[in-house]
Amino acid sequence: MARRLSFTRAAEELGLSQPTVSTQVRQLSDEIGMPLFEQLGKTVYLTDAGKELLVAAQAVRSTWSDFEANIAGLQGLTRGTLKLACVTTAKYFAPELLGAFCERYPEVEVRLEIANRDTLFNRMRANLDDVYITSLPPEDIEVEDLPFQENALVVVASMRHPLSGRRDIDLASLAPERFILRENGSGTREIMENHFGQHGFVPRVRMEMGSNEAIKHAVAGGLGISVLSRYAIDANPAHDRLCILDVQGFPLYEKWHLVYPKGKRLSAVCRSFLGFLGNSLDPAAAAGGERKALPKKSQK
Ligand code: PGA
Repeated sequence: MARRLSFTRAAEELGLSQPTVSTQVRQLSDEIGMPLFEQLGKTVYLTDAGKELLVAAQAVRSTWSDFEANIAGLQGLTRGTLKLACVTTAKYFAPELLGAFCERYPEVEVRLEIANRDTLFNRMRANLDDVYITSLPPEDIEVEDLPFQENALVVVASMRHPLSGRRDIDLASLAPERFILRENGSGTREIMENHFGQHGFVPRVRMEMGSNEAIKHAVAGGLGISVLSRYAIDANPAHDRLCILDVQGFPLYEKWHLVYPKGKRLSAVCRSFLGFLGNSLDPAAAAGGERKALPKKSQK
């Protein structure tokens, strides 16, 4: 309820009816002797007492899952739940990574959260997950950082675009183009803006969207051009009715990073996951010495 700030959504998530959730929240407030939520218009807010309770509940939950993992560790078992959260664009490869991990450790359960970069770091601040995948680690949170494969950002246009097939396009030639951008808070957008900023290029924006898939359709439909991770596009861009423009300075290369807050006590399952990832990674790619091959096919 504190995460969703909605009785309806909390009830859906818990598989309970909305009146049951309301009653339970009221009983809890009565027990504590202070209201936990307040409603202004249609919006529900946590009160100060509610915020305190949220922090305490998260601490209890995290201590309990450490306890479960430690007991499983003492029993020599790798089981429990791996809580992985990743940025929107990592959804194109993270499930495969998890699939391979679960094949190796069939007793493990996995919870995968997908959100944009800003939301992900808020989750990290609230200590909601075990580990995180992003290509731009946070600047204001001290993290342990395991860089792994490459994230290449490319300029995409519709297959019918007049610049399609042209070699070595300079940024100035993109000045008349209309750009379709990812939303504020997206890592893809931040990498693109940093690059354009360094070259004094200001894109003309047609629209912003919070979904790579929606952007691909808009670009294929001729609404504009965009900068997307190569992971978001089919190995054969024509299958997405797109082409990749050969723009100077592109692809922009970043790495994917597995990060977690410094000092966080990792569960046994999580330590197994890090070991698994370390063993299955190409050391040259992780060290940054080599451009790692991009995905054979993208998932939609
Ligand atoms: P995004 O993040 O999916 O939020 O754009 C991608 C990234 O971190 O590169």
